Amino acid sequence: MNILIINGPNLNMLGKRDPVHYGKMTLNELNDYIRNSFKDINFDFFQSNHEGEIIDYIQTTLADALIINPAAYTHTSLAIRDALEIFNKIKVEVHLSNINEREEFRKVNYIKDVCDASFLGKKEQSYIEAIEYILDNFRKLK
Ligand code: DQA
Repeated sequence: MNILIINGPNLNMLGKRDPVHYGKMTLNELNDYIRNSFKDINFDFFQSNHEGEIIDYIQTTLADALIINPAAYTHTSLAIRDALEIFNKIKVEVHLSNINEREEFRKVNYIKDVCDASFLGKKEQSYIEAIEYILDNFRKLK
């Protein structure tokens, strides 16, 4: 099984961002942690600070399922929302922090209702829960 994991803007700076919200791992450490937790899955990790690059990647991926942490684009991007709507396989939204318990502007979410599920507020465990959700639901669909 192939799972694409997309991380949006500023997530390349993990390790330097506020650890209270985002934990202490760098993005490479996070990706290694995910890879080591699910050795049978082929992961494609993509990070970009650019909205259009994220959209191009969603449009062209051949992955069986997609996990996206759109970062700040969660709260602004109709274009990423529309690209996700077209992707007709399992798709899951992830956030390290709990965006519903932070500033008011982070409660605006263009992504949530075009995804099959959302996992948030558990730092790197949010990604693990998203992968477990995909595995459970992928088996059910087969
Ligand atoms: C984030 C939450 C967003 O509000 C923020 O802009 C991010 C990261 C998270 O993972 O908690 O960059 O998506």
